[in-house]
Amino acid sequence: MLRNPVRALLLASALSLTAAPVWAFEAADANAWLTRHDSRVDALLKQMTLEEKVGQLVQFSTGQATGPENIKVDQKDLLKNGGLGSILNLTGAKEVNEIQRVAVEQSRLKVPLLMGLDVIHGYRTTFPVPLGLAATWDAALIEQTARIAAIEATAEGVRWTFAPMVDIARDPRWGRVMEGSGEDPYLGRVIAAAYVRGFQGSDLSDPTSLLACAKHYVAYGAAEAGRDYNSVDMSERMLRDVYLPPFKATIDAGVGTFMSAFNSLSGVPTSANHFTLTTVLRDEWAFKGFVVSDWTSIAELIPHGIALDGKTAAFKGFTAGVDMDMQANLYAMHLPELVRSGKVPERMVDEAVRRVLRTKFALGLFENPYTDETLSAKVQLKPEHVALARRAAEESFVLLRNERAKPIEGSPLLPLADGKTVALIGPLADSADDMLGEWACKGDKKDVVTLRSALAEKLKDKLLYAKGTEILGTVETGFAEAVSAAEKADVVVMALGEHRRMSGEAASRTRLDLPGNQQALLKAIVATGKPMVLVVFAGRPLTLAWEAEHVASIIHAWHPGVQAGPALARVLFGESSPSGRLTITFPRSLGQVPLYYNRFKTGRPIGGEDDDQKDSGARYQSRYLDEKNSPLFPFGWGLTYTTFEYSPVSIGGMKSISLADLENGAKIKVEATVTNRGSRAGVEVAQLYIRQRGTSVVRPIRELKGFEKFSLQPGESRTVRFEIGKEQLAFWNVDMKHTIESAELAVWIAPNAEGGKPAIMTIAN
Ligand code: NOJ
Repeated sequence: MLRNPVRALLLASALSLTAAPVWAFEAADANAWLTRHDSRVDALLKQMTLEEKVGQLVQFSTGQATGPENIKVDQKDLLKNGGLGSILNLTGAKEVNEIQRVAVEQSRLKVPLLMGLDVIHGYRTTFPVPLGLAATWDAALIEQTARIAAIEATAEGVRWTFAPMVDIARDPRWGRVMEGSGEDPYLGRVIAAAYVRGFQGSDLSDPTSLLACAKHYVAYGAAEAGRDYNSVDMSERMLRDVYLPPFKATIDAGVGTFMSAFNSLSGVPTSANHFTLTTVLRDEWAFKGFVVSDWTSIAELIPHGIALDGKTAAFKGFTAGVDMDMQANLYAMHLPELVRSGKVPERMVDEAVRRVLRTKFALGLFENPYTDETLSAKVQLKPEHVALARRAAEESFVLLRNERAKPIEGSPLLPLADGKTVALIGPLADSADDMLGEWACKGDKKDVVTLRSALAEKLKDKLLYAKGTEILGTVETGFAEAVSAAEKADVVVMALGEHRRMSGEAASRTRLDLPGNQQALLKAIVATGKPMVLVVFAGRPLTLAWEAEHVASIIHAWHPGVQAGPALARVLFGESSPSGRLTITFPRSLGQVPLYYNRFKTGRPIGGEDDDQKDSGARYQSRYLDEKNSPLFPFGWGLTYTTFEYSPVSIGGMKSISLADLENGAKIKVEATVTNRGSRAGVEVAQLYIRQRGTSVVRPIRELKGFEKFSLQPGESRTVRFEIGKEQLAFWNVDMKHTIESAELAVWIAPNAEGGKPAIMTIAN
């Protein structure tokens, strides 16, 4: 456990730039805590009536609802009778203690309640939204943000978060892309494990440990057409190669719980899917924690059409492997009867209850059910928490484009020179609430420093401001004032994008260009000819093709949290350099989606044998007639204020390696040297990609297998080294075996998923 958060922060930030390039996921004893208290669990189980057992599998919301509110129950009454195991959405040490007292002082067996909440990207100290945090490519930093969220949340009585969301997401129409780490399974694994370590710490019984929950199990991110809650139909190979690995990584990191999802998967709703919930999760992965349903997802088996009544829904959800029923009340209503009638064996209920109780024992709730009511005031928004929020925001910004801008000739527009008059324009420039992003937990707009406030402090009377329009504006009355501000300034900073509720749950969109009349405002300002920086705030990629053609510099800033303004001011004026890299592809136009870097090559690639991007122009190729196939900005993309040069990738002269040697643990050693060729220090993320051909099934045109983030002074070089072995090469083959095969192997060390030239070798039989 990180008992001294300040020391832990310093330690982790020192580590962040020297992190091991290829992450190890095996942590042999990360799950030991799950069975440590089993003798106490069994002793308690023996004393429980069937109703009391089922009570442990029931969860209701108190306070703010995070789904449709369908059921009201008297929770205190339920608690006294042992009929409630967990509450979600209740916060505040006093409030939590009050209800906990009913459980531990008035119920027969005194089993404490487990209090859950969506602590997603901070508690009171709000960090960038998870897709922004992912763009830092800095697992140690992400772990620290989760640790701080845990310290703040547990001080308010919350011991369980419904995070991390580890859904791979390839369709930016889906609003929930914001809650995850993007489109890549390797990066998804690294980041998923970091969140679990950060939330839970190393000892669950520490009062600052926040039990984590890997969600939404599984394939929720592949919702058809990007429409939330929609169905998913995919091959088992795709599921295992891409969508399952981040979930497995959370188990290897010791995660305590899983949440089943809303979507159906190949015809079977994931909250009643025996294959994913039992065959994979329990039989293959030996997961010993418990699974909670998503909000009413057991009841939703009825509209899905696989149950006609609540009793069948409870039966299907429970026997498939969902242990706890969030908010549907169907386990409470039907499980006792299903057991008594012999349809559900009691030992299945015992096993589910055992999983819940072992978690409560591990959290120390039996010894320590109450929260110190004086603690919260001491920990929320501590200066070091806020400092980390600023650093995380700075590292999350992705500089998409940075060109020379007339009339400032010479160097790229960013960083801005001091002494200029700046016109700050746009509806996101001073919108504190939107900076928090969706799922901001206890984030409060009063704590936010906006871009306008930060620039006003820095520039004083050299800052001109005009809102210009609303986020979803239709009227143009504010345009004239904005144009006049631009005309008076040396440089314009536009702050445009989405409001916070345009991403997150139930926030799918069919258009991803700048909302409302923001692009019209942008065009009016571009017409002034002033050098312009566009800062985009959004929970997802937007389609920015026009902007990328007409605006010199573009920063994608996500929704950056409480320190949005100071972090941006520092990056705009070069006190720090942008270092974020995209973890999700930015399409040119929406018609291209889903568009992701690790796609398959077709039989008719547009650019010939090796190059799927270079359009040969020939007919009868896999291409659009009216749009390029390539993304506007690829996965891994991000500029900074210097330039890096990559040496050719070296595989040490190796031409071939045998399958037998790889099976025996041999590794391919690859390296490249990266040199800072510019005149400023900068941070680079060198990315290791592979491609295999000649295999029994089609493999992606590139797959990320490692990365290293580091800083270089002007003229300085660094040689990055990776090892590729069985773990990196294995895939689910034509016989659905997870194995390595003979292949032609291409290896890149490159700045993004489209850069670099590969070294080629063979993996021989
Ligand atoms: C529904 C969401 O899908 C899930 O992510 C969240 O954890 C629950 N509601 C609880 O708020």
